[in-house]
Amino acid sequence: MSTVVLGSANRDLVYRVERIPSPGETVLAGHATAVAGGKGNNQATAAARSGAKVTFIVALGTDEPGDRLAAEATAAGITLQERRVTEPTGTAIITVDDNGENAIVVDSGANRLLETLNVKETAAIAAADVLVLQLETPLSAVIAAANAANAASTTVVLNASPIQPLPAELLACVDVLIVNEHEARHLAAHTHRIQTQHGDENDLASALSKLGPAVILTLGPRGAIVCVPGEPPALVPGRNVTALDTTGAGDTFCGALAAALDQETNRALDLGTLVRAAEFATTAAAISVQRHGAVPSIPTLEEIRHFHSVN
Ligand code: RIB
Repeated sequence: MSTVVLGSANRDLVYRVERIPSPGETVLAGHATAVAGGKGNNQATAAARSGAKVTFIVALGTDEPGDRLAAEATAAGITLQERRVTEPTGTAIITVDDNGENAIVVDSGANRLLETLNVKETAAIAAADVLVLQLETPLSAVIAAANAANAASTTVVLNASPIQPLPAELLACVDVLIVNEHEARHLAAHTHRIQTQHGDENDLASALSKLGPAVILTLGPRGAIVCVPGEPPALVPGRNVTALDTTGAGDTFCGALAAALDQETNRALDLGTLVRAAEFATTAAAISVQRHGAVPSIPTLEEIRHFHSVN
């Protein structure tokens, strides 16, 4: 069993502030640090720490941050299919406030050159059981990867973040679509002109599931709604924890969910299978929000199991 993640890697420059500055405002950081991040890298790390055998297709610069990200991913047990490119390694500027909320600006750098797939990358996707995608790298390679996976019956998990319109060609290849509430409303309203009752999350998840894939709507501390086309939505409740830093929590959820699906011997994506995977992923995300940073906050399989045994 194996999982391939295609996506971004960033060096996260994290500033802890009392509150996130408003436009025109300057605030002083109480603490600043640089850690590994990037949605693809976070999801690959979460899948690997959750027990999956992970290959990560990524573009890095020929620079010290690129070397450091590659070394950390390898140390996490990830097999890298990296390309070193002329642009510098991606950077994210992240402010985290006293409530654990964040605001992020990404300078994509090398990530924006991940535009096409080579033969080796396509073969790795075709040989995998699960492919995990996000939208922080160019859509052209995301679509190529989804098509390669679809042709080989590899399960495709798409985290539509940062949100953008999803072409029909991509949606047709996706088995599981993971979105937060903001992304779901944006997709529903702006891309697919779906009318939903304001505030009704079940309605929103059901409406999106009519696009084809199973939908997982993440609700932060309240958990997640799992919706399989044609069935009533199921709520996976959140875990009762105090959030210190929510950076990368959504990525932890996606990577852990992919690992849980990868472990299923019968990977039929029925409601029961997805709810079990979402329960595991919700626990992983709940552990991550109690720690600082993206990659440094992602729990191991042992930590996830321990949380289950004491809660
Ligand atoms: O989802 C969190 C991630 O978004 C951060 O690690 C940052 O690099 C940006 O990609």
